[in-house]
Formats: sequence, structure tokens, C-alpha cells
Amino acid sequence: MQIKDFFSNEGKEVSVKGWVANKRTGKGLVFIILRDGTGFSQCVVNAENVDEKVFEEAKSLTMESSVELIGKVVQDERQVGGYELHVITLNSISLAEEYPISKKSHGVDFLTDKRHLWLRSKRQWAIMRIRNRIIYSIHNFFQQEGFVQMDAPVFTGNACEGTSDLFETAYFDETAYLTQSGQLYGEAMAMAMGKIYTFGPTFRAEKSKTRRHLSEFWMIEPEMAFYDNDQNMDLIEQMMNFILKDVLKNCKSEFEAIGRDTDMLSKAIGTFPRLTYDDAVSILRGEKDINGMNTIQTLENDLLENEAQKASVQTEITEREEKIKAPGIKKGERNFNQNKVDQLKNDLKDLEEFARNIPQWIESAKSFTHGNDFGGSDETVLTRLFETPIMVYNWPHEIKAFYMKRDEESPSLAKGVDVLAPEGFGEIVGGGERETNKDLLIEKIKEHKLPMEAFEWYLDLRRYGSVPHAGFGLGLERMVAWVCKLPHVRETIPFPRWYGRLLP
Ligand code: 4AD
Ligand code: MG
Repeated sequence: MQIKDFFSNEGKEVSVKGWVANKRTGKGLVFIILRDGTGFSQCVVNAENVDEKVFEEAKSLTMESSVELIGKVVQDERQVGGYELHVITLNSISLAEEYPISKKSHGVDFLTDKRHLWLRSKRQWAIMRIRNRIIYSIHNFFQQEGFVQMDAPVFTGNACEGTSDLFETAYFDETAYLTQSGQLYGEAMAMAMGKIYTFGPTFRAEKSKTRRHLSEFWMIEPEMAFYDNDQNMDLIEQMMNFILKDVLKNCKSEFEAIGRDTDMLSKAIGTFPRLTYDDAVSILRGEKDINGMNTIQTLENDLLENEAQKASVQTEITEREEKIKAPGIKKGERNFNQNKVDQLKNDLKDLEEFARNIPQWIESAKSFTHGNDFGGSDETVLTRLFETPIMVYNWPHEIKAFYMKRDEESPSLAKGVDVLAPEGFGEIVGGGERETNKDLLIEKIKEHKLPMEAFEWYLDLRRYGSVPHAGFGLGLERMVAWVCKLPHVRETIPFPRWYGRLLP
């Protein structure tokens, strides 16, 4: 029996195997929060209903001990999941040593060192389930649309997204690079299959410690023969809407567990505004309004509101700290207030960081130079006025990859698209139409100082039955971070790899 099936087994005697996520003892009672991977449930051991030996064993269970509990499923609206187990007997499987992760708040470095255990906590459990659902939903979408899934190689002989962030490795007597993107191989496969998508690990060696960068991340890269960039953008919008609807429908309890405001996500469903790069620059600099709203002014208002928010959080902290100090306060109430205070202090830190950042963001937005790529803070500023993701297209070709199609009417532009998520998350998708002109491609390969011989096979795709085609790459971890509203991508993947982190 699994905890997720309690609802259809009310009144029955069941056996459930899992781990002790938490334990509390009262007079003649032991309350165990059991987790079994499918859910969490309160299990009550009552001294009056079980053998003395069983009761003593229940009392001796330590946090994260593994155990089999046999008991009756009883409906109780107040409990997690709406049911609890009234224990009849139990078998201890393995008594855990003192568990290093306690209820008090730990620093993120400590938790990352203990990632193999941290994954068991309710919040991480919920995030991993949402990640799983998003993966499932992506496959469903592309399979329904008639795409063929393909696996691109991880060892590659050439760069794809520029040479500055390649991981080099020995490959017998040659040098290989861990793939930055499966796209070039996807293009070859699209000429064989029509519509394909890759779903694989990709590697970037930039020594970056920002909240958006991993050195190993998973990318979904569809590639479609006979598509232009407008059709490409239609597909991105369709895919994102599909994923959002699916995850909202199927991950309700997970969103609840992480406290995600799903109204904001529901609002992200719909038509995504398409802005040219030029328009995006004007909006970013505060020169152009959206529905009568101005980016810079809105951020200045945010800053004023931030003052009030900080004051109110500070007041609540003081009030709760006084309660904690009050004589005769019950242990439960004290713990409850202490947890709240810890949470509020984190909120306060975030608010303070926001207050420090905004003036810098405003400054760099106002002075943004046309022709540059948007930085992380520019993307946050740019998306401030939108509830859905936005799609920025028609980019200066100099700042885009060598394979991006040049606009024949405006040769300074490339037919690329970046999708920027709201709520400060920024770029989650990058893509575009591909250059079909072989001579222009050769020129670009030279300009980017890429080794021509490694691209001969790619040029063949233009020699033999070249067709207009387009595609994009969705960063899975960035998508999960936005859907879950996480401050850092490292919590979106079971064992994150970023600059300086190789264990566990
Ligand atoms: O914009 P990027 O570099 O585009 C490509 O790799 C193209 N070849 C995709 C294509 O057209 N087939 O990367 C695509 C997406 C980004 O928008 C971002 O979501 C994610 O991959 N991404 C990263 N995610 C985490 N850590 C990193 N270091 C990332 N770099 C890119
Ligand atoms: Mg990009």
C-alpha cells in the first residue's frame, strides 16, 4: 500500500513502508509523519491500542528510520493528505543514526553538501515531482504533435554556441568537447524525419555563479523542416501553454507544499507578446510604455513599496519574538513562532537584496546600449510589465550564433527569438530560423573562428536538399525554476553541477 492510495482504502487495515519524516510524542501517544515517496501521512501509535513492546519501539524510532507500519486508514480533514493511519503494529527496518538535517534552518551550502539527503525533504520532494511532470508533459506534447525524439551525441568534435564555454576532454587520441547543444545534429535528423526533438544533457563551462547558470543542464531542442521563425514562435507558445496547463492540473499538492502562488502561473497562460529587439530596447530604457505603464517608473514604485513591506515584516518579527519570550508559552506554540520568525527573516533578506538591486537595475536599463545582449537584470526589468512570457525577435546578427538566419531584407538582423519568463526569471528559451545560404554560413564560421573541417558535415545539409528550417532550445532547469518560483536553478535538478560544485 502507498500513501497516495489511502483515500480509496478508508477503514481498511493496510501495511505501508516508508521513512520517519518527523516524530512527536505525547502522553501515551506517538505521532509519526511517515513519507513513502508518494506522499506524507500522520500515523498515530496509541499506547492503549498496541502492545507495550510496539509502543516502546515506536518511541525509539529516530528521524529517517525506515519502518513498516500496519494500521487502519482513517479520514481526518485536518491532516496532510486528509487521512491518518491508526497504527496496530510496526516493524522497524533500519534505525537511523542521528540525522544531520534538522528542522532548524540550514544554510544552502550545507544543504547542497547533503544533497543526497536533502532530496528527502518535503520541499525538494515536491520540486522533483514537478520537474518529473514537466518532463512527462514535454514528451507528451511533442509526441502528440508528431515529433520524433532523437538523442544527440555528448562527445562532439566542434563548438555550437561559441568557443568560450566548452568543456574539453580527452577522446582517445583526439580532443573532444562535451556538447553545448544538440541542435546541429538535430538539424541533420530533421532533414531525415521532418520534425524532431532532442532531450539531453548539455554542458557550459562558463565560470558563472549566477542563479541561472549550471555547468550541466538538460535541454529540449525541437527542430522543424519547412518552418520559419513565425511558425517557430507559434510552436513555442503552444508548447509552453501545454506544459503550464498540465502541471497546474496535475501538481496541485506539490505547489501547495512549496507555497507557490499558482494564480501567477495561470496568468502566464495565453498569447505571448512578440517584441522586436528594437522595441524591447525602448521598453527597457523606459522610452516606450506598455498599456500606459513604464518599466522604469514601475520599478521606482516597487522600491517605495519595498520600504513599506520591509517595515511590516520587521514589525511581525518583533511581535513574534516577544511571544516566544513570554513566560509559560507552550512548546508547540514557541516552535511555530520560531519557524515563522526564521521564514520572515529570510523574506526580509530578500526584500533588502531587492532594495539594493533595483537602483542598479534601473541605472543599467536606462543606459543600455543598443546592439548589446540583454543581461540577467535587463531581462528582469524588461519583463516587469508582463504577466505572460514575452518573445523577443529580430536580433542584431552580431550577437547571435553563427547558424542564425540573416534577414534578407534587413541584413543587420538575425531571425532569432528569445523567450523571457515573467516574475524576474528571464530567458528560458533561445532559438530561431537557421541560415540556409551556404556561403553566408562559411563566412560566419570563419568570422567566429570555428574550425572549418569540423563543420564540413554540417555544410552538407545545405548542399543536399537544403530547406528553410527552424528550432529552439528550452532549458529544463530554468523552466522548473520559474514554474516553482525558486531563487536558484540548483534546486531544480537532483544533483546540480555548477562552477565549483562536483559533489555529491
Ligand atoms: O540560448 P541557448 O544557448 O541556445 C542554444 O543552445 C540553441 N542551440 C538552442 C536551439 O536553437 N536549438 O540555450 C537555450 C536555453 C536557454 O534559453 C536557457 O534556458 C538554457 O538553454 N541554458 C541554460 N540553463 C542553465 N544553465 C546554463 N548555463 C544555460 N545555458 C543555456
Ligand atoms: Mg540564449
